[in-house]
Amino acid sequence: MPIKPGLVDRIALRANLAPAAMTDFYGGVALHAAVTAMDLGLFEELAEPRSARELAADLDCDERGIESLANLLVETGYLGRDGVLYYTTNRTRKWLTDANGTNLGPWLWFWVDVVLPYWRDHVDAAVRTGDPGETIYDWLGEDEAGWERTQEGFRAAATLLVDPVSDALGDVSELRVLDLGGGHGAYAVGLARRGADVTLFDRPDALGVASETVAGEPAAVRDRVTLSGGDYMTDDLGDLDGDDGDDGDDGDDGGDGDYGDEGRYDLVLLFNVLHAHDPDECERLLGRAADSLSPGGRIAVLDQFADDGPTRLADVGIAVVDLAYLVTLGGRTHETGAVRRWLASAGCRVTDSETFRRAPGVRLLVAENRQQ
Ligand SMILES: C[S@@+](CC[C@H](N)C(=O)[O-])C[C@H]1O[C@@H](n2cnc3c(N)ncnc32)[C@H](O)[C@@H]1O
Repeated sequence: MPIKPGLVDRIALRANLAPAAMTDFYGGVALHAAVTAMDLGLFEELAEPRSARELAADLDCDERGIESLANLLVETGYLGRDGVLYYTTNRTRKWLTDANGTNLGPWLWFWVDVVLPYWRDHVDAAVRTGDPGETIYDWLGEDEAGWERTQEGFRAAATLLVDPVSDALGDVSELRVLDLGGGHGAYAVGLARRGADVTLFDRPDALGVASETVAGEPAAVRDRVTLSGGDYMTDDLGDLDGDDGDDGDDGDDGGDGDYGDEGRYDLVLLFNVLHAHDPDECERLLGRAADSLSPGGRIAVLDQFADDGPTRLADVGIAVVDLAYLVTLGGRTHETGAVRRWLASAGCRVTDSETFRRAPGVRLLVAENRQQ
């Protein structure tokens, strides 16, 4: 919740009579306070107004501890207060609880519980040498709880965009879709609900949350999603669900997945994947994606691009993720022009480019395979 300086504060800040960095410090503490409130279930608890004493009894906490936490959350806009009663504000209810399907809480959890501990040990190397030494994915390794926090965070962020992005992809009914780096499965399920057959491909350790996402769907949707583990830079992307669609002679390796010169997918998604890779890797990955397309198939790239900034907040967001990609992945935000060039060298032509009101700075590029 943005800290809102009052009139006197704003005059002092503008005249440089007060240290503006203190507002960032307050914001940093407020983020941690919000995550503590989420750990306690405080925002759900305060759907109805309650006093600190009642909360302390219900949440098995110290009354003074709850009061101090709640007071900071009031000052920073997460909670409201009416006399001794605290309540969850509309902003918090909409964006940090399950009240209406736009809960970004797991994204904050991911940052505080996963990214920040990783960050402390890797930011120095990343900034001094341009290489954090290991990616956050390698650092997570086989840490199941860490992967769960991570994919739940990605899924929370994706939830805002699944519908508008699916709309932008048009009619996907009966399309064969490959979701590379599909992570949590929210996009895969979103498209499967619209009748697509989706193969989600991700690192084997990363698939736990995707399994849960798929398991929560009715059988008609579940049956349309296949989860597959591996490395999209090196694995054969042609036949990931084992149904290679040829004459059954798997010994005859006619290229990726026995499809000879043709791939099998109508649509390949690369959503929030390219930022982890340098230009050579991006070009290679887009080439591999294009090779797995059927004639006339499409590649869809969703990401934050370095040159996009329709609003001031979008500019800040792009600068934040650019540094975050460097520190966590040795990666970067790419220019849309560069992505268009890599797509062109993979034989694809961009046919659509869309932005989304809910996620300033995010762009979807859709490109068609021109090879017949
Ligand atoms: C930022 S997440 C994006 C998840 C989802 N596509 C979205 O847009 O919300 C990037 C995903 O790429 C996966 N990934 C990274 N490197 C990979 C690789 N070499 N092979 C397969 N998946 C990879 C990660 O495990 C992670 O799930």
